[in-house]
Amino acid sequence: MRAMTYRGPYKVRVEDKDLPSIEHPNDAIVRVTMGAICGSDLHLYHGLMPDTRVGHTFGHEFIGVVHEVGGSVRNLQVGDRVMVPFNIFCGSCFYCARGLYSNCHNVNANATAVGAIYGYSHTAGGYDGGQAEYVRVPFADVGPVLIPEWMDDEDAVMLTDALPTGYFGAQLGDIAEGDTVLVFGAGPVGLFAAKSAWLMGAGRVVVVDHLDYRLDKAREFAHAETFNFVEYDDIVVEMKKQTDHLGFDVAIDAVGAEADGNLLMHVTSAKLKMQGGSPVALNWAIDSVRKGATISVMGAYGPLFSAVKFGDAVNKGLTLRMNQCPVKRQWPRLFEHVQSGYLKPSDIITHRIPLEHIAEGYHLFSAKLDGCIKPLILPSAA
Ligand SMILES: NC(=O)c1ccc[n+]([C@@H]2O[C@H](COP(=O)([O-])OP(=O)(O)OC[C@H]3O[C@@H](n4cnc5c(N)ncnc54)[C@H](O)[C@@H]3O)[C@@H](O)[C@H]2O)c1
Ligand SMILES: [Zn+2]
Ligand SMILES: [Zn+2]
Repeated sequence: MRAMTYRGPYKVRVEDKDLPSIEHPNDAIVRVTMGAICGSDLHLYHGLMPDTRVGHTFGHEFIGVVHEVGGSVRNLQVGDRVMVPFNIFCGSCFYCARGLYSNCHNVNANATAVGAIYGYSHTAGGYDGGQAEYVRVPFADVGPVLIPEWMDDEDAVMLTDALPTGYFGAQLGDIAEGDTVLVFGAGPVGLFAAKSAWLMGAGRVVVVDHLDYRLDKAREFAHAETFNFVEYDDIVVEMKKQTDHLGFDVAIDAVGAEADGNLLMHVTSAKLKMQGGSPVALNWAIDSVRKGATISVMGAYGPLFSAVKFGDAVNKGLTLRMNQCPVKRQWPRLFEHVQSGYLKPSDIITHRIPLEHIAEGYHLFSAKLDGCIKPLILPSAA
């Protein structure tokens, strides 16, 4: 089969790989019909996540058709059209029993933090991902569900990560009726977080980024007020001014490890690898909220130390909430919102790229060229 493979920082290509096979009776093999590139894939592409191995196939957002099932699979049949959450999880361990699907212990027992993610570095289990014609889906009875008849494929693929993560970001913000909500990052996760904040009762939603084309989208798609941080000497001072110097009630970090806006942080993270990410957006969030506020962190950070302004977070009495999104937990509510038309997830898709041209997709998305917000990947066998 044809599959994207990682060749080293900023290098990916499509190669022939063996078809994945059933390794456990509860595995399924899914023929991928549509995938996407996530902001999290960019951290791998840039060589920032530890133990990202040459030859690995990325891709944790995908839908497809069941091609083969193992002997114990009961919930899926060959030919079923399925959507697959980005987390791999067993459904029965201590963590899964508590709904912490992104922290499942059975699928990544060598790690004490994250569970397993398709197509992520070996710190997340080392499972091959869905930027390929076929993918092995472990615990096939647990993660995937049939795509409802009424749901478009492009909406379904957005429901495997980007939308649930944005929604989860807003949920962890514990938004109360009328709250002021500040979202850092106008990528797919930030756009969906801003849109979801309204559904949870926000009274005001502000989005900060430095890419005008994405801020345009935040106004049009998420009906947010927007600020381009390069237009201000100090974006935190501006955010304080915006709230009568009180600070926002809730902030959401939808940026993560590769935040721009501070040269020292960039050099000590991306260049010198002295910290597991540049926490500029997180520090701006800590500074821009009021005392007693809640900050929700959806942005991904490496496992190493990061220079977070923790003392200020302590002294302000902040609540910090964070995790990889347990995608399937969000589905019942999000299916309702999509079916009723409150959310049209595919509205943020800007590019539809054949798998053979995936290198171009990574380049466009990474360099933020051609108005790129969310690129889909279309395998040729589909
Ligand atoms: N927790 C989870 O389950 C989960 C799931 C998906 C993605 N993520 C993470 O969420 C983050 C966003 O993902 P995405 O797909 O939207 O990525 P993206 O790269 O498309 O978007 C990030 C945005 O942040 C902006 N940005 C950079 N520095 C900034 C700053 N200092 N302040 C404000 N904005 C800034 C960029 O210009 C860009 O528009 C990534 O770190 C990704 O790894 C986490
Ligand atoms: Zn992702
Ligand atoms: Zn589990």
